[in-house]
Amino acid sequence: MLYPAELRAQSILAGYSNTGRNDYNLPGLGNKERSSRFRKGFDIIEIAGGTYIVLAPGLVGPILVNRAGQAYPDTMSTMSKITLDDLRSRKRAGKKFSVLTCYDFATARVMDQAGVEVLLVGDSAGEVVLGLPNTRGTPPNVLLHLTAAVRRGAPNAFLLGDFPFECMQMNDNARIDWARHFMQDAGCDALKVEVTGQDADLVSALRDADVPVVAHLGLLPQHIDPVTGYRARGKTVEQARELLEDAQILEKAGAVMLLLEAVAGEAARAISSRTSLPVIGCVAGPHCDGTVVVLHDMIGWGGGHPPRRVKVYANLADVMRSAFTAYVEDIHTGRFPTDAEAIHMNPGEYEKLVSAD
Ligand code: KIV
Repeated sequence: MLYPAELRAQSILAGYSNTGRNDYNLPGLGNKERSSRFRKGFDIIEIAGGTYIVLAPGLVGPILVNRAGQAYPDTMSTMSKITLDDLRSRKRAGKKFSVLTCYDFATARVMDQAGVEVLLVGDSAGEVVLGLPNTRGTPPNVLLHLTAAVRRGAPNAFLLGDFPFECMQMNDNARIDWARHFMQDAGCDALKVEVTGQDADLVSALRDADVPVVAHLGLLPQHIDPVTGYRARGKTVEQARELLEDAQILEKAGAVMLLLEAVAGEAARAISSRTSLPVIGCVAGPHCDGTVVVLHDMIGWGGGHPPRRVKVYANLADVMRSAFTAYVEDIHTGRFPTDAEAIHMNPGEYEKLVSAD
């Protein structure tokens, strides 16, 4: 299906190839990259290989098109940019939003097309991507690169970075520097930090440094007790009151959102109904404004991560395993690659090559 802006792109590109007019350089683009502005608000930027990025008022995000003006369908985003204000309005209107963890460009692109509003590049990457035993060892620079990749794949989603354990051990200045890297270099919209009410100063310092903080409360995987393990929080009135108090302290300190992990549903409900901040639940029942699950859990991908209580929507490990098994068989039996998948020499060249032997 061609979207109206694609149709315009098609005719404009035709005009562009006929006349080759009005080229000018855009700041930040290399020599090869050119743009022609044909109408107010409508840009076509040529990148290498006859591929163009089209930015147009009729589109919710940039799309990639070829010289004939045909869009590469998997580059089409379905969303307009999600902002903090959008999430706040959703809370006010009682409209839920979806959150998924994401760790790479290709998956981010698919999530963006599916309309997932918030993407969290969690330090769970250490477990599910790097195979580490817990999230404590997730290296900040690795997480930063993964976060930037997700931003490239999902330009319109609300991108939530995660402050790794190693950064939490640094001095105040170094923490702020790292938080700025996540915001400015990786393109985050906010940064999630595992905290309690005792970390109000850190939250305020980050707010003062223009880093919007999502306060992660409840079960804090960076502080898992190796003996007691992953235990739910907020199951008693005392625990629920403590969480409620922490939430209020952190809201006052400047947090822009809360994330409650492994918190009893009733406690999460009490917290969510007493704050104007959007609240994301992670195994925290149905009363939060948004819900996050770890990608690998919900698509049955495994990955050395302790499975949480989630609905499983696919069994990707099975799908991938059968594809890999079929591939191994094809290689062993010679079914792939065949001559049909080969690149061929120009006619007559092979004969010249072997006749020289
Ligand atoms: O790192 C992560 O993926 C998380 C979620 C489980 C909330 O913190």
